[in-house]
Amino acid sequence: MPSYIVLLGPPGAGKGTQAQVLSEKLGLVHISSGDIFRENLQAQTELGVRAQAFMNRGELVPDDLTIAMIRERLSRPDCQQGAILDGFPRTPAQADALSGILSQLGGKVDVVPYISVPAAVLIERLSGRWTCRAAGHVFHEKYNPPKVAGVCDFDGSELYQRDDDKAETVARRIQVYTDQTAPLIDYYQKRHLLAQIDGTQDIETVGQHLLDAVKQQR
Ligand code: AP5
Repeated sequence: MPSYIVLLGPPGAGKGTQAQVLSEKLGLVHISSGDIFRENLQAQTELGVRAQAFMNRGELVPDDLTIAMIRERLSRPDCQQGAILDGFPRTPAQADALSGILSQLGGKVDVVPYISVPAAVLIERLSGRWTCRAAGHVFHEKYNPPKVAGVCDFDGSELYQRDDDKAETVARRIQVYTDQTAPLIDYYQKRHLLAQIDGTQDIETVGQHLLDAVKQQR
């Protein structure tokens, strides 16, 4: 049976950082809704152009567009063993849609690690984040610096700072998370799928706790 893991947490909690490591350890594909939107934006597809205004404002892209995009992604052959979902679902409507999509694929959400981090820490993390142009590998100038400044350790591509990491957009993203996504903590707790992880520890420790939580609930 395929295995699906949903990483939940505010912007900058470390979902992308941990998803990358977990994906290698578990041999599951990493699906980041934000990365898919950014790839579409770079390629100027219709989806990317429609998503751009919402992303620039730090708002959520409408559910119908986002759900259709994830449905298509999960139907690809590389998801046959399951997937690690990073950034989706972000609303109760997306969570309901996800369970429908997965049941059509013969699966279900197995565990929802929730990486909790206070807002003040999130702001510092996002302002020091550098992301790789080619594959979205994530670094931090203080907490996880690349070996050579401005160059990705994994694929040598250029590192850049995301447009939506500007202070005012970060504040809006955190507010949007609180209003629209935080209700999923309760949603998944009621379904006995939530595993809370203290995301303020160093990257390796968070990763170990995450792996333990996943192994326990899978
Ligand atoms: P998205 O790309 O998903 O952004 P996000 O959820 O806001 O999350 P981030 O990528 O900013 O943070 P992260 O938790 O992955 O942290 P990271 O590992 O990078 O979404 C962007 C936009 O797309 C949204 O605003 C929305 O418009 C749209 N969108 C996407 N999905 C959508 C959906 N489902 N519905 C509607 N709209 C959607 O870490 C952050 C930094 O901290 C890094 O520099 C990292 O090195 C560092 N760090 C990580 N862990 C630690 C640690 N333990 N200690 C110290 N530093 C750490």
